[in-house]
Amino acid sequence: MCGIVGYIGAQSAASVVLHGLRQLEYRGYDSAGMAVINSDGALHVRREAGKLINLAQLLDQEPLQGQVGVGHTRWATHGPPCQRNAHPHRSVDGKLVVVQNGIVENFTELRQQLQLDGYTFHSDTDTEVIVHLIHRYYHNGSAGNLVNAVQRTLHDLKGPSAIVVLSQDAPDQLIAARLGNAGGVAIGQGEGEMFIASDIPAILRHTRQITFLENRQMAVITAQGAHYMDLEGSPLAKQSIQIEWNPLAAEKGEFRHFMQKEIYEQGRSLTDTLRGRLDFQQQRVMLDSLNLTDDQLRTLDKVTIVACGTSYYAGLVGKYLIEQVARLPVEVDYASEFRYRQPVVKPSHLVVAITQSGETVDTLAALEEARAHGALTVAIVNAVGSQAARVCDGLIYMQAGPEIGVASTKAFTASVTDLFLLAIYLGQARGTLDDARRAELIQAVAALPGLAGELLENAWQGNLYKDLAERFYQYRNFLYLGRGINFPIALEGALKLKEISYIHAEGYAAGEMKHGPIALIDQEMPTLVIAPRDSVYGKMISQIEQVKARGGLVLAVAHAADETIKAKADVVLPIPISHELLTPILAVMPLQILAYEIALRRGVDVDQPRNLAKSVTVE
Ligand code: AGP
Repeated sequence: MCGIVGYIGAQSAASVVLHGLRQLEYRGYDSAGMAVINSDGALHVRREAGKLINLAQLLDQEPLQGQVGVGHTRWATHGPPCQRNAHPHRSVDGKLVVVQNGIVENFTELRQQLQLDGYTFHSDTDTEVIVHLIHRYYHNGSAGNLVNAVQRTLHDLKGPSAIVVLSQDAPDQLIAARLGNAGGVAIGQGEGEMFIASDIPAILRHTRQITFLENRQMAVITAQGAHYMDLEGSPLAKQSIQIEWNPLAAEKGEFRHFMQKEIYEQGRSLTDTLRGRLDFQQQRVMLDSLNLTDDQLRTLDKVTIVACGTSYYAGLVGKYLIEQVARLPVEVDYASEFRYRQPVVKPSHLVVAITQSGETVDTLAALEEARAHGALTVAIVNAVGSQAARVCDGLIYMQAGPEIGVASTKAFTASVTDLFLLAIYLGQARGTLDDARRAELIQAVAALPGLAGELLENAWQGNLYKDLAERFYQYRNFLYLGRGINFPIALEGALKLKEISYIHAEGYAAGEMKHGPIALIDQEMPTLVIAPRDSVYGKMISQIEQVKARGGLVLAVAHAADETIKAKADVVLPIPISHELLTPILAVMPLQILAYEIALRRGVDVDQPRNLAKSVTVE
């Protein structure tokens, strides 16, 4: 997914845009570019392939002056990452530029039509058709009305698109627009200046007053403010949101990577996740933002969880939590599958979307599918004001603060904690929880941030994970095994290693080993086993013995004082003792740290692993 930043006001547009792009680089980093109208009224463009640092170095050599501009970091969808394909894309007369996040699904036919009209293309991208369409309408049919030319162009486009347009003929304005679920367009209000960004961290240091564009909406932005309208030009009255995030939260601080920071701040982020949601007097969970009555919750006969990637694995943990605590059947589905398999969805179902960014296109499409069938929908989401947060009946914010690292860590543990709270909340409404059980669960989750902090502090102070990285960073395959509520943690641990160290890793239900995967075991395939003292502990002990009997290496996530495991496993990754239903939240942390340290030892750019982006807003 790409990153967009726009600025108009009294500051240097180039410096505001470049800083903003740096905050968004996690979204995509194949190439980057910027356009500024300088003081003599001319439009200048700078573009470079590769990471943002390349553009910054070009700007040092060839600076851009001016107070209105737009920039873009690219995650390539059409055309290889190179300077020619970097945004902004420019009109044939050089007076107009466009940056885009999304996909023009009908770009082939539009490109052919424009070529027949005499337009020459200089890139392989779908985006370039947009700037030529605007140019064509601007000069033929819109009588020099740029806003109308943009509206007519947007009507021609198929597929999700978020665009920003800057024209030399209108140097006192930027035009922003959003089609479908193309990733956010946040418009920030300053004093005599305005900001545009794909994501809040890019402009949080300048303003907390944010207005979000929704599907088929656009804005004409000057230094004084923004005028909102639909694609027919009808004015829209839109409310801004006051963002409470601390701007520093979107900075690395003393950490080496955002991922490292976000792993080690989970004690604090879990405190924030629980904030305002535990009533210790009544021993109850409070989830007012769910916006669903007890009657609505009592009529439910099924919960379906839809998500992608790490958020999907959080959903798998949610299945165990909700079924055990609220006694409601739960189905968990990849959003990318759910949206196309003609699922059976009824008004008596609750569909829960888990999405850190709130902009994942498959998850948003799955929500649309659920709503089309009349189901109640809830989003467990981190990004305030994101699309998922706006389209659901109810909300549970992760309250984890901005998560910048591409590999999701604190959002995962926040999601699972939110699912734990939701399970209790459903149990409260449906009467499946007696007072004693409810109090037990409330006390257990209240202790969670402290346990997480203890685990992370011990890891930070010791060398265990650096030593393990040194020992294991050259292995080419890993197997992760979990059982019961920790089976999804095996899947998540394997994904962490895969996506940031590029080592193949497979998560498996431990009980499935004897049905095939045990054939893989040898000295070259280390096995990570998640074995807290829970209801399936005995099974995991025999699992360890089966792997050891075949000469396999075993690294076990286990309670620090577990002498049995210490005697059987080659390595113990220690976690503190907690309530069984909360072990997944603690057990994932050693796996996050191990993946991080191995990736570091392999020299991977941990915050920007190859081929990935923080939020996938294109199919
Ligand atoms: C997680 O480490 C990955 N980066 C990825 O699987 C991510 O969880 C997935 O793309 C879903 O993102 P979302 O939570 O923002 O919807």
